[in-house]
Amino acid sequence: MQHSRRRFLNYLAASPALAQQAAPPVAATPADALNVLDFEAAARKALPPAHYGYLAGGVDDDVTLRANRLGFERLQIRSRRLMDVSKVDMGVELFGRTWDTPIILAPAGSLNAFHADGEIAVARAAAKRKTLQILSTVTTCPVEEVNKARGEPVWFQLYAPPDWEKTKKLVVRAEAAGCPVLALTVDRPGPRNSETEYRFKKLDSRNCLSCHPTGRFYDRKPMFAGMDMVNQKHTNPGMNWQFVQRLRDITKMKFILKGIEAAEDASLAVKAGVDGLIVSNHGGRDSDAGRGSIDALPEVVAAVGGRIPVLMDGGIRRGTDIYKALALGARAICIGRPYLWGLSAFGQPGVERVIEILTQELDLILRAAGTPRIAAINSGSIVRR
Ligand SMILES: Cc1cc2nc3c(=O)[nH]c(=O)nc-3n(C[C@H](O)[C@H](O)[C@H](O)COP(=O)(O)O)c2cc1C
Repeated sequence: MQHSRRRFLNYLAASPALAQQAAPPVAATPADALNVLDFEAAARKALPPAHYGYLAGGVDDDVTLRANRLGFERLQIRSRRLMDVSKVDMGVELFGRTWDTPIILAPAGSLNAFHADGEIAVARAAAKRKTLQILSTVTTCPVEEVNKARGEPVWFQLYAPPDWEKTKKLVVRAEAAGCPVLALTVDRPGPRNSETEYRFKKLDSRNCLSCHPTGRFYDRKPMFAGMDMVNQKHTNPGMNWQFVQRLRDITKMKFILKGIEAAEDASLAVKAGVDGLIVSNHGGRDSDAGRGSIDALPEVVAAVGGRIPVLMDGGIRRGTDIYKALALGARAICIGRPYLWGLSAFGQPGVERVIEILTQELDLILRAAGTPRIAAINSGSIVRR
């Protein structure tokens, strides 16, 4: 009996029909995707290896990249019952404006490496899904055009070049374009070791110089137009708290820091008059320190003590992840790779579907956990495993 059962299982394992079942087909349309992770395989299929490597990779052994996901698995949602969940309200307030969802599109550079319509496709999707978009300094489309496609100004992420005049020029331009919020990225102080990206690059048989004729990063970055960036960098290793204050003083935009992980820095930021923080480790793309962003969130929230909003990003792939971050005190969350996968695979409709899926999943867990309003979620809504 045992013998014939094993034979039958061996037969099944060898059958092509089962093999097909074991590897589900890659999503061919945005509607095929059941969750946002389904877009990853579709992005991998759509992109040349070098560009996929740029999208997927962390640094060194990708330990921080994995930690961003693992941190969520250690948290469990503590559901309440009989809470009348017939109506859900996901609205969140940020700097005097209420958004329909706490989901924000994180800044990412070089989006035309993923789709010809790059940042414009993202802006249109964000407009359609009424979602907040943060534009990277190293955008492949100028902020003015992105704002036009979005129908209103986006938030602007700043990489401050070491040269103060260049930094000032970027800030003045973002402000003139109407951007209401400036997010200074503080977690990329120097070079990084993007091993996964380098390995994927080796798989790419194309000649990079056919698309990047000068081989220089800044030549195709319109925010640096008119600046001499030959032998220059876009990140400033010399940044300190005086620099933060100096920058704060030259703009009327709300001013937030992206990349804070420690309580000390959160306290210093409040003292420096910063308007908000994004807890982030750059999606595991700066150092392999190994600490998940969700694990850093509680100490930052505690240090801030409700004085300014705290956002977070890194590893959000499910509505339940969003819920957990909100329970730990995040006002809102940003997603990076999920919408970049959607963009890579399907352009604007892919980004729209990613936002839709996460919104639906958040709706489900808000009801299932008995907290139909975001404001009802608190530290008692989760437990640590
Ligand atoms: C391909 C790629 C490019 C990125 N470019 C930038 C950037 O230009 N500026 C920035 O502040 N963060 C950048 N990030 C980091 C994201 O803003 C965000 O912190 C991170 O992707 C969140 O993690 P997740 O990808 O796990 O959602 C980039 C991330 C990726 C994946």
